[in-house]
Amino acid sequence: MSRIINVQHDHPEASRLPEVRVEEDLTVVIFGGTGDLTRRKLLPALYALAEERRMPERFRVVGCGRRDYTDESFREEMREEILRFRREEGPEDALDAFVERIEYFKGELDDAEGYSRLHQRLSDADHYPANRVFYLSTAPNFFEPVTRHLKESGLIYAASDEAWSRVVIEKPFGHDLESALSLNREILRLLDESQVYRIDHYLGKETVQNILSFRFANTIFEPVFNNRFVDHIQVTASETVGMESGRGAYFDQAGSLRDMMQNHLTQLLCLVTMEPPSGLASDAVRNEKVKVLQSLRVPTAEDVRKNMVRAQYAAGQVKNKKVPAYVDEDRVPGDSRTETYVAAKFYLDNWRWSGVPMLLRTGKRMAKKQTSITVQFKKPPMQLFRTVQCENDICDLTETQPNMLTFRIQPDEGISLHFATKRPSMHMVVEDSELDFRYDENYQGTLPEAYERLLMDVMRGDATLFTRSDEVEAAWRIMDPVLRAWKERDDYIPLHFYAPGTWGPLAADELFDREVDQWRNE
Ligand code: BG6
Repeated sequence: MSRIINVQHDHPEASRLPEVRVEEDLTVVIFGGTGDLTRRKLLPALYALAEERRMPERFRVVGCGRRDYTDESFREEMREEILRFRREEGPEDALDAFVERIEYFKGELDDAEGYSRLHQRLSDADHYPANRVFYLSTAPNFFEPVTRHLKESGLIYAASDEAWSRVVIEKPFGHDLESALSLNREILRLLDESQVYRIDHYLGKETVQNILSFRFANTIFEPVFNNRFVDHIQVTASETVGMESGRGAYFDQAGSLRDMMQNHLTQLLCLVTMEPPSGLASDAVRNEKVKVLQSLRVPTAEDVRKNMVRAQYAAGQVKNKKVPAYVDEDRVPGDSRTETYVAAKFYLDNWRWSGVPMLLRTGKRMAKKQTSITVQFKKPPMQLFRTVQCENDICDLTETQPNMLTFRIQPDEGISLHFATKRPSMHMVVEDSELDFRYDENYQGTLPEAYERLLMDVMRGDATLFTRSDEVEAAWRIMDPVLRAWKERDDYIPLHFYAPGTWGPLAADELFDREVDQWRNE
């Protein structure tokens, strides 16, 4: 195996780049302030930004919830959570200084009176900086009412005012096309699109952002990124987790298609197939992503049966630990037909990708946590060489492996390129070799968490890594017929079952056009 040499990533000049920080003072208000996301991701991310001196001079963080806390008791509990979930250890005094800025506000999400109290409280401009970020980390049915209350109580400034307010909306944005359209309509009646930040946390991952730099900062790959050279593209997002911490209640209503494929996987597909944007301004990038989504072929019920595989995990073991069947998980109905795995073959009807299968799969309780994208190139027009392939003790001469470019999004972050080299011997036989770029070998420290980058961008007003209304709608346009086909043709389109700790149902292997091709489990 070959490796590229380190090209001075830690060169001292690199640190002279201007520091990225939030310049304007602000108040961050989190609805769902006592929830899981706030504890595990949002507060640790804000703390990391503060510790790296990226937060402005003056800022406050107000957690809103229904439970009884005082500012003091809330701070104390959140301090423990930050210690538990922070990415890296830091000095005690930095943590103390951050926690001092956290406050608590008690209120019901659907109670107008609470919002006027909040308005009154935030009007103390000496204590609460005027610019506001409202983070909606709530159940999706509250996205619209909370936004409406914020608007009606005067907590949102007009887009033309000097002070600004921005509203961050968590996923899922709608549960089908119709609900997404209606939610967009309602939200955009209350807010300007420039005030709305729809989160897809995959876009905040460092390695996901690297897809665009890799493609458009280099010249050697782009000329072959098209249907003349690419055989197919695979995107995998597998997880070992199941329905821990009562997640079943949400997940059973969603399923893998809505939970992962409609958003995270289609976003990854967009980045790896989009045309170069005219610049890095948020609309330039988002325009290109929308074009990809608009060129995704809308599947018919027959396409869904032929080109998609849905499945649910049975009882079994993951990493030597016994796990129950999905239907026996906490808060999941015993007769549920919700899919915990989905694999799909899509086509992009555009000039560049016409005819190239785009294979996407995601699932819970699989063999490994892995998010990766593999671009598999076509084989040479004529097979001059052979390669040795061994299974157990039996070796055979077979066709050579095609070239493959893999983006390892997580874990083991990096990019690798597979190519054939001659095996030293008297025979003219080739074997598969690899060029491998690894983040952990090339950069020091841990990679920033997706939420750090995304919160930073909201606070600085950069919407590039957030999904625009037309993107969300275009993604639902593809997923809606799938949901409909599964529901209306339930007897005709099978729900497969798979053993936990595996790579999913065998039926997914049949999505490849040729038997020799396989899912890349790396
Ligand atoms: C979330 C899904 O958006 O992404 C979860 O709702 C999933 O079901 C999670 O587990 C995976 O995120 P990550 O960053 O761990 O790959």
